[in-house]
Amino acid sequence: MSSDLAARLREGTKHSHTMAENTAFMKCFLKGIVEKEPFRKLIANLYFVYSTLEAELLRHSSHPMIGLTYFPELNRKTNLEKDLTFYYGEDWRHQIVALEAGKAYVARIQELANTEPVLLIAHAYVRYMGDLSGGQSLKKIVRSAMNLPPDQGTGLHEFEQLPTIEAIRAFKAKYRDALNSLPVDDTLATKIVDEANYAFELNRNVVHELEPDVKAAIGEHVFDLITRQDKPGSTERSPGNTSVELIAAD
Ligand code: HEM
Repeated sequence: MSSDLAARLREGTKHSHTMAENTAFMKCFLKGIVEKEPFRKLIANLYFVYSTLEAELLRHSSHPMIGLTYFPELNRKTNLEKDLTFYYGEDWRHQIVALEAGKAYVARIQELANTEPVLLIAHAYVRYMGDLSGGQSLKKIVRSAMNLPPDQGTGLHEFEQLPTIEAIRAFKAKYRDALNSLPVDDTLATKIVDEANYAFELNRNVVHELEPDVKAAIGEHVFDLITRQDKPGSTERSPGNTSVELIAAD
């Protein structure tokens, strides 16, 4: 029996995805503008988010549905610690601060973990599938924009256990199969899609809060030029058929 949850998630979050790609922060990013200060703040906030998400997924890993979609090889916390050491130095723990939007994101994950843990699946989907998709192109942009030494500063998007594009593609197919194997009824599927849309919103709020930092770094004029036009989103097309031009950036 397939719940078709993977397709429902992709279809049901298309609009949110397009909005995420069209945030001012991401528009600058896609133009190769990656400023160190806002970028390291993003990494810091994602560290708070992933630490919470991964601890809660582990705590609930024997939950019948969470267990089926629990893949510890996706965990980002250790890689983010390496990134934070790189961007802030050894005492990063004393320097990083949660943004208001970062706190709200963490609070939502904690709330669900204590009330309706099955909805954590939506949060895992939004972050991990994103990291395995557009994240792979963003990694290349970060590396060239900041002229990074090899293997430093891009741990967020390095999956040591999925070292090639083919391995990532195969894993994403496995992840979608796992989503489809969940015994969810229509009501629960709708709730998971709604929560995924909310997870996109929480992500957008984090990058919105970083916009003043980007503006300060590149100047209001350039910021306005880069951010005034919207583009169609990457998940408006069919799965797997989307990353062509992005991967061609290799
Ligand atoms: C400029 C930024 C982004 C670009 C260029 C981008 C690009 C892409 C592409 C090309 C895909 C399709 C991959 C495939 O079908 O195999 C994709 C999928 C996805 N992205 Fe993004 N993305 C961006 C930002 C984000 C953000 C900020 C999030 C969430 C935090 C996100 C979450 C996802 C998810 C969950 C999928 C999987 C959709 C599915 O179910 O197939 N993306 N992205």
